[in-house]
Amino acid sequence: MNILVTGAAGYVGSVCAAELVRQRHCVVAYDNLSAGHRQALVDRAEFVRGDIADAEKLKRVCKKHQIQAVMHFAASALVEESTRNPHLFYRNNVSATLSLLGVLAELKIRKLIFSSSAAVYGEPKSVPIGEDHPVCPVNPYGETKLAIERALAWYHAAYQIDSASLRYFNAAGATRDLGEDHRPETHLLPRLLAAAFGPTGSFEIYGDDYPTPDGTCVRDFVHVLDIAQAHILALHCLSKLGLRIYNVGLGKGYSIRAVVKAVEEITGRKLDVRMGRRRPGDPAVLVASARKLRRELRWEPRQSDLRNIIRSACVWMQKHPKGYRA
Ligand SMILES: NC(=O)c1ccc[n+]([C@@H]2O[C@H](COP(=O)([O-])OP(=O)(O)OC[C@H]3O[C@@H](n4cnc5c(N)ncnc54)[C@H](O)[C@@H]3O)[C@@H](O)[C@H]2O)c1
Repeated sequence: MNILVTGAAGYVGSVCAAELVRQRHCVVAYDNLSAGHRQALVDRAEFVRGDIADAEKLKRVCKKHQIQAVMHFAASALVEESTRNPHLFYRNNVSATLSLLGVLAELKIRKLIFSSSAAVYGEPKSVPIGEDHPVCPVNPYGETKLAIERALAWYHAAYQIDSASLRYFNAAGATRDLGEDHRPETHLLPRLLAAAFGPTGSFEIYGDDYPTPDGTCVRDFVHVLDIAQAHILALHCLSKLGLRIYNVGLGKGYSIRAVVKAVEEITGRKLDVRMGRRRPGDPAVLVASARKLRRELRWEPRQSDLRNIIRSACVWMQKHPKGYRA
């Protein structure tokens, strides 16, 4: 298939683009490089530097490459930033994405996989969280993802765009060549590894007074390669599926303390852990029910064992101590 991958220079998009290429799809990598890295672009994909809000450019690219499907990763994705600058998030994640959807409708490109997020659920009322759990985002980031999920239902009805919204929990881990390099980095594992390999080894945990077994938050980590597989499975089944929403999580949670301990064991470095305050809007437990994805798409996460995730990220970070800058 000829597939447009937006956000292909970012963390999840680059891994997915590389997997698509490996599986012999023709990939056009579309990214404005606002947060992505040229070095993360897969060699055998055609790169176009552009913004998803630029409808004319997108139309030209889609026509030229006879695009049949879109995987849409491009977004502003720093949750904390979304509370300070909601306008940026509404503009990029809603308005620019609607512009992209307009191009799809006009050119009759009727297959879309959308990167949604567990942030649509907000504070969970029950765990594990199934797709039918009420949605109630507690930050603008989650709101913008939900707005697009909802729009997709109408675009399906009116323009026959089949879509799967994949609500990732915590993407983590690396492939041999591609890893996580956000600026600033807010995700747990790269921050822990940076601390482990840094001069001080100091690391702050945000709160240990949660109602969890060891008092720290519990999260569900999925290897980025397993996320890529979920995209590819969804794409293959899309004409049968029509319109779907799936959680992409392992269904198993690890406390922050447990992840710290595993990082210490794997790196052989002792961390100087300080206990900080809770961050506003951090739920105690975020664990997915991933039964629907396994049942309907036969998704089998093969890489998402926590130690494997940490080892893969660790190898990548040792090869790229300064991220993609090195
Ligand atoms: N990483 C996670 O744990 C996680 C969890 C849930 C959901 N998601 C979602 O998955 C997607 C990918 O996340 P990521 O961690 O790879 O993010 P990322 O920031 O690494 O990648 C996003 C990419 O999109 C590009 N981009 C942003 N706005 C653009 C625009 N207007 N036009 C063109 N390109 C643009 C950036 O340059 C970057 O390369 C995002 O939609 C994010 O919201 C990620």
